[in-house]
Amino acid sequence: MKKILLGIFFSVMALIPAKADEGMWLMMFIHRLNYVDMQKEGLKLTPEEIYNVNHSSLKDAVVSFGGFCTGEIVSDKGLVLTNHHCGYSSVAELSTPEHDYLNNGYFAKNPNEELPAKGLYVRFLVRMGDATERINALLKGKSEQERAQIIKEESEKIEKENSENGKYIVTVKSFFQGNEFYYFVYQDFKDIRFIGAPPASIGKFGGDTDNWEWPRHTGDFSMFRIYADKNGNPAEYSPDNVPYHPQHSLSLNISGFRPGDFTMVMGYPGTTSRYLTSYGIQQLIDYEYPPFIEASKTAMDVVKKYMNADKATQLNYAGKYASIANYWKNRIGMIEAIKKNNVIIEKEKEEAQFSKWLNTKSDRKKQYGNVLNDLKSYYQATNDNIYSKMYLYGIIRGSSYASVPYRLGNMIQAYIQQDSANREIMKPKLLEAVTGIYENLHPEVEKDLLADLCSLYVSKVAKDRLFPEIQILSQSQDFKQTVFNLAAGSVFENKENILDFIEKPNADVLQNDPLYLISKEMITFYTTKDEIALRLDETYNQAQRNFIEGLRRTFPDKTFYPDANSTMRLTYGTVKTLIDNPQKTNDAHENYYTTLKGMIGKYKKGDDEFDLPQKLIDLYSAKDFGQYVNEYGEVPVDFLSDNDITGGNSGSPVINAKGELIGLAFDGNWEAMSGNILFDENLQRCINTDIRFVLFIIDKYADAQNLINEMKIVK
Ligand code: ARG
Repeated sequence: MKKILLGIFFSVMALIPAKADEGMWLMMFIHRLNYVDMQKEGLKLTPEEIYNVNHSSLKDAVVSFGGFCTGEIVSDKGLVLTNHHCGYSSVAELSTPEHDYLNNGYFAKNPNEELPAKGLYVRFLVRMGDATERINALLKGKSEQERAQIIKEESEKIEKENSENGKYIVTVKSFFQGNEFYYFVYQDFKDIRFIGAPPASIGKFGGDTDNWEWPRHTGDFSMFRIYADKNGNPAEYSPDNVPYHPQHSLSLNISGFRPGDFTMVMGYPGTTSRYLTSYGIQQLIDYEYPPFIEASKTAMDVVKKYMNADKATQLNYAGKYASIANYWKNRIGMIEAIKKNNVIIEKEKEEAQFSKWLNTKSDRKKQYGNVLNDLKSYYQATNDNIYSKMYLYGIIRGSSYASVPYRLGNMIQAYIQQDSANREIMKPKLLEAVTGIYENLHPEVEKDLLADLCSLYVSKVAKDRLFPEIQILSQSQDFKQTVFNLAAGSVFENKENILDFIEKPNADVLQNDPLYLISKEMITFYTTKDEIALRLDETYNQAQRNFIEGLRRTFPDKTFYPDANSTMRLTYGTVKTLIDNPQKTNDAHENYYTTLKGMIGKYKKGDDEFDLPQKLIDLYSAKDFGQYVNEYGEVPVDFLSDNDITGGNSGSPVINAKGELIGLAFDGNWEAMSGNILFDENLQRCINTDIRFVLFIIDKYADAQNLINEMKIVK
């Protein structure tokens, strides 16, 4: 029996031959693969100005923001710009009903007002390198089972060789589903301070109704600052730390742009599945996404009810709710778009070409002849399991009472086993973990979440696929009430109980705690794979790897790019109108941007999603726009480009031909929600916040001239 990590369920790596502005390119190959094309589209920089490991270059102004988003450096004092929805959880955490930065907005006017954002970090890419030959040399003739171990061991060596004794974080990643390997050398900064954000009514304007849609009027930005020690090195938070002097920062260009103008986006796209087979897509839309959507909605309904009733709950659950709602709508859109855009048919065409190619030569047939059949049988064999596990995943993701007791319980178990001297050493860390978790956890919300999500699971999943403990519980008279009652008196019910328990811990009590038991069973059941599942994984890995290799040989003239995997990529294209949906009207002169006028047009006083602060409305009435207008005197809010982005790119800089910042990428559009699987050049757009809107808010709305003066604004 072997355990796998939580969360691997999302998607499978793959790739596709590139069209027009499709492609998330690896920084070290821009020079060789893309540069001529980029120049043709209008780029004025040299490749060395974009990516250079010996001198500062654009890549030094782009950071991974917290590991889940992207940010860019916009001043020589380490000011970072990212999306509002990227800073959202940090801002919510810093907020209280008395100091509600999330809903009222906040801009620091001096260094004393810059607020430490706990747990946040930013990551710089120092360099990347190719480890393909080195690792593949060791893999020749090895079995699928041996591969994983060899890759792990060699990766550890590469990491050690490049970390300079711990100065850098080094990771080796697989590309093209195990066909290639690259390593990434990073430097992390951990003292990150919150500088400013507009009120959520502006930063999240349009809420979930407008999310993933165009036309859009969201002011999706927030600001942070990197602090370092006096020598400019990363350091834990300290009041003695100073603003970091970056190697490169971006100028902000407010002169505007037109369709066809060059744009590039650099950032950290998370996951794409551009070469998922038709069978894999069928599994997603029939077996994986429907339970995911249903469980998400169940969780959202519970959380929303409590958020609406109480301000502190609203702040504590804001981040969790937004993230569940974001993927809930995304998955609905994906199913719809996959069907509407005939994605499965497109993939079948490609698979037919692959089959035709391999059938013309016997050596190809030998190497690739079984690949598609293997993949097909893999999906057939895993459909039912995926379906039931997605409901289970819904519980684990949705309810902290499902995930926390097992995690904390194991820490406490280890703590109990120590002698008293060691306990004293471990205790602060344990207490810190407890405080971190329980300060945002409301027992009444969690009880309901656990009860509702378990009820959904039991009602949808075949009895013999339920995890054992819940099979027993499901026989009780009132199942939902039974689950609801599990928390009463549990060590993990609330902060008081668990702090008491840590003072006088008892292994027997822990082992018999109802929440601990169910949490342990659930997570073990979710993460454990039996022999059959392990063999299936091996079949899949081998077949998908060979499929990609074979596909690259089927289309030898096409330039392939690897699927997104949270490594830095560059995508280039142009500002571009969306001519698709005539009934979707827009307020601007052309359908590639929106304006403040349109935003005011959508305003609904007191609404959850479309409210606006009075001051913004006053600025609009007074036409007090400063220098942040376009040629028609409008304040632009959002705009479209055809850059190829995905989740993780949020907050990425949209950079013009001269290397200046013109916007922040923040979303994709409904018409092209199938984009993570198949890029459609006619439909897929990148939705960006216009830098002029960002500056208008900082300058005119927030009067934060300190920040305006710190940035380099150019025309
Ligand atoms: N769709 C955006 C993304 O995934 C996130 C937007 C967050 N806003 C919201 N209303 N939930 O990058």
